[in-house]
Amino acid sequence: MIKKYTYGTPFKTDTIIESVDTAAGTPLFGSITLTDGFCLTYKMAKEDIVYGLGQANRGINKRGFIYDSECTDIPTHTEEQRSFYGAHNFIILDGNEHFGMYFDYPGKLTFDIGYTCQDTLTVSCDETDLDLYVITGDSSYDIVKQFRKIIGRSYIPPKFAFGFGQSRWGYKTQKDFEEVVTKYRENHIPIDMLYMDIDYMEDYKDFTINNDNFPDFDSFVKDMKTKNIHLIPIIDAGVKIEDGYDIYEEGKKGSYFCKREDGTDFEAAVWPGLTHFPDVLNEDARAWFGSKYEKLVKKGIDGFWNDMCEPAIFYTPEGVEEYKEYLQKELLTCEVFPPFDAKTKAAELANSPKDYSRFYHNVDGTMVRHDKVHNLYGMNMTRAAFEGLQKTEPEKRFLLFSRSSFIGAHRYGGVWTGDNASWWSHLLLNLKMMPSLNMCGFLYTGADLGGFGSHTTRELLLRWLALGVFTPLMRNHAAIGTREQECYQFEHVEDFRHVIGVRYRLIPYIYSEFMKAALSDDMYCRPLAFDFPNDSMARQVEDQLLIGKEIMIAPVYTQNAAGRYVYLPEEMKFIKFQPDGSISEEILEKGHHYIDVALNEVPLFIRKDKCIPIVDAAECIDDIDLSTKKMIGYELAEYDLYDDDGISMIP
Ligand code: GLC
Repeated sequence: MIKKYTYGTPFKTDTIIESVDTAAGTPLFGSITLTDGFCLTYKMAKEDIVYGLGQANRGINKRGFIYDSECTDIPTHTEEQRSFYGAHNFIILDGNEHFGMYFDYPGKLTFDIGYTCQDTLTVSCDETDLDLYVITGDSSYDIVKQFRKIIGRSYIPPKFAFGFGQSRWGYKTQKDFEEVVTKYRENHIPIDMLYMDIDYMEDYKDFTINNDNFPDFDSFVKDMKTKNIHLIPIIDAGVKIEDGYDIYEEGKKGSYFCKREDGTDFEAAVWPGLTHFPDVLNEDARAWFGSKYEKLVKKGIDGFWNDMCEPAIFYTPEGVEEYKEYLQKELLTCEVFPPFDAKTKAAELANSPKDYSRFYHNVDGTMVRHDKVHNLYGMNMTRAAFEGLQKTEPEKRFLLFSRSSFIGAHRYGGVWTGDNASWWSHLLLNLKMMPSLNMCGFLYTGADLGGFGSHTTRELLLRWLALGVFTPLMRNHAAIGTREQECYQFEHVEDFRHVIGVRYRLIPYIYSEFMKAALSDDMYCRPLAFDFPNDSMARQVEDQLLIGKEIMIAPVYTQNAAGRYVYLPEEMKFIKFQPDGSISEEILEKGHHYIDVALNEVPLFIRKDKCIPIVDAAECIDDIDLSTKKMIGYELAEYDLYDDDGISMIP
């Protein structure tokens, strides 16, 4: 059952698309105060678990920390970070009482989940205008399913998007891209996508191509298609301010950019230098920006990744002016110049709350200050792209995912989890975020495999790929300046061929389970506790996941490990894909086990009395041959395989 409680005059975020009964007064759970903003408090019992928050830090169980729902471009994902790029305000209390809460509020919201007081959950924000949805149900799983019904169906990508993709910030020329494809194909490592980071553009201008580096871009795209490679360009939020640049000129003319209080176009520096932000919260501006994707679609492009859409700001002219004034004042008045303060203040020029309060959106004729609705920008940029692409080719699915999101964006695209690092802890964080994102509707998700920042190692990349085999988005991406981490850069390339090959062997199953989950508002991956709610051991497991209805995964995530401990909540068949193409099988009883997993093996567990289809490995999605299908798992079990053409829009 779902009830809606309205406080003040909430901003319409478009997260909830089904009508929900409104209740009067205070919900059954917790107490609410409305002085100095909104504050809900709830006393948690000792055993209560708190799930949710989508793209957030730390555990699957969110208890014991404090999180801010505030879309933030912070590249250092250390344990103390309270917010990442997404703001997903859905939590579930699982314990003595059982309920979910969605806080429909577009500004900063804080979830103190036993951080200040171990037994107290506090959810608070500065304003008193929000809708609170309270969902009661039999179990956490049931609560998620009810929530997913009212937020609408998850985005469905084309089938090729389940292939493996290579990316790197720094590929510049057609030759650079061709070389990557050649190396992958020569080494017979499967691949379907090549991602184009900002350097494909002319001076980082959205919807342009650098003609010097790509003398005939259209033919290049075509040629790549003949090699079964989809090129996936990046689109950034900021539009470069430059006379004569068509997107800039059109945006100015149509008054499509975010405005300062005095009505002038707001300026912020990002990759291209000074830019304007398209006002994607405004219907006309959103339609205009969304229509621009067609420029690249006409060149044969069938997928995009949207970036910097928090929106990220390096600095603004106003911020720089204030910093200069501060420096001048300090230099004049201080005998000892405060270098540390100056350094901190310089760093604070980026993504500063003050800058987010300096610009406005035109929402149906009302000027709304950005910081009040900050978390909606990324979602509406994804929506702009999705709606624009749908207009361009209504019958076709495009690959689309973004960095910043709010619940609601899950209907328009997927998310990748942004600038992680080549750290073992981030492999585990990738695993923990996945089910939480699924709870909030984001099914097509993945992390930068191998790690974006810092220098990866062969071992870390291989172990991470073995997790990536199961993440819908499977992409190796790295930052400029880091060690080259394309799979062929490392010794014993056959191990990479094998691990990624396993992904292709499992594609029929992965696609089938993803689609079934998307089409029935279900979760593609779940914490063990969702299926085994009464198993006190399963309730504590934070490093294993259920994928689809048939399998469990337990990736290795520590350096130099020859295997790991796992907990089986029921008897299962332990499967290992061996480097020689064979598959080992062993039935393991319910309970704790140590499993050996060599660096070039991919492990999974098939649940009792279930089976899954596998096929022969292929080098691209199009080459998968379903006639090679065979079943592995428990004999006599049956599997209902979902399949379709992988490209037509599903009504
Ligand atoms: C941002 C993105 C990253 C990209 C870089 C350059 O940091 O998160 O993926 O490579 O910008 O475009």
